[in-house]
Amino acid sequence: MKVLGIESSCDETGVAVVDTEQGLLAHALHSQIAMHQAYGGVVPELASRDHIRRVIPLIHTVLSQSKLTLEDIDAVAYTAGPGLAGALLVGASVAQAFAWSHDLPTIPIHHLEGHLLSPMLADPVPEFPFVALLVSGGHTQIMQVDGVGQYKLLGETLDDAAGEAFDKSAKLLGLPYPGGPHLAKLAEKGDASVYDLPRPMKHSQDLDFSFSGLKTAVLTSLRKLEAEGAELSEEQRANLAASVQAAIVDVLGYKAIKAVKQSGLKRLVVAGGVGANLQLREFLSKEMAKLKGTVYFPPLNLCTDNGAMIAHAASERIKAGLTDLTNKHYDGSVRP
Ligand code: KG4
Ligand code: ZN
Repeated sequence: MKVLGIESSCDETGVAVVDTEQGLLAHALHSQIAMHQAYGGVVPELASRDHIRRVIPLIHTVLSQSKLTLEDIDAVAYTAGPGLAGALLVGASVAQAFAWSHDLPTIPIHHLEGHLLSPMLADPVPEFPFVALLVSGGHTQIMQVDGVGQYKLLGETLDDAAGEAFDKSAKLLGLPYPGGPHLAKLAEKGDASVYDLPRPMKHSQDLDFSFSGLKTAVLTSLRKLEAEGAELSEEQRANLAASVQAAIVDVLGYKAIKAVKQSGLKRLVVAGGVGANLQLREFLSKEMAKLKGTVYFPPLNLCTDNGAMIAHAASERIKAGLTDLTNKHYDGSVRP
């Protein structure tokens, strides 16, 4: 079966075609980052309007890349949530209109399930069961994944997500949105040992996280430097960026490895935008090697939001028999 997937939960319009047998056939993405940058963050109304502009041309792009026509598509998957309500509605409406006009089933996909299964789009493909560290702009969770649709939440953030901690700290450092990759770049030139930032909940008994205190600590460090008078030097900014990154990676890495040890499993999967962070990748690769285990990441370009992960999650659900392919009710399920 050929599944068209549409992602429109936030600031990327992503479309892809996945074949249940052959895997990913094509994917295309339009990022709205440049449009939102002037505002320092995502403007929901602008996001919705841009999804409307982009989604149909992107569908044409993936069809032509995969040498298919609309008539070749067997099911239409879309991100049902969580995400921005207006943005989600664009993807859901286009998916349902297309499915209705071609008498096809629609497959609503949970955005996090898309991220969670996205490492399966890389080579080698992780086998079930595995522990997953899901780190995006909106979520930070540790899960045990026993199979498609079999997810057990082991821990999560009690306040800010890891991506949010990167983004908010980056904003304080005057870096453009989305801050994570910019902060990581600045951190390359910095010394992480200069600022001793807190590692909130690192040694708590559970597998939960808390990142809101980190942002306050960054603000306090900045205020102290500003009070000293002189303008912040590039070196100080880089050192602070490196210290922030080290603190986030330290807590994420420590708890992910703790979860792996507790589970007795040898496979760790990292997914979501923060999974693109090279320092996190390096830390987890080393620690998993010590445990004689393996860590799996999505391809770098599929860490952040994309249509491939949505079409892929739908394809996995079809193969696992978890999808009602007779569903032609088009109930518009969207869960912001
Ligand atoms: O998964 P994603 O695209 O969107 C959500 O579903 O939230 O993740 C976006 C998040 C942002 O917070 C962004 O700053 C962060 O991922 N991110 C990074 C890196 N690349 C993206 N954070 C740290 N280092 C990176 N290289
Ligand atoms: Zn996402």
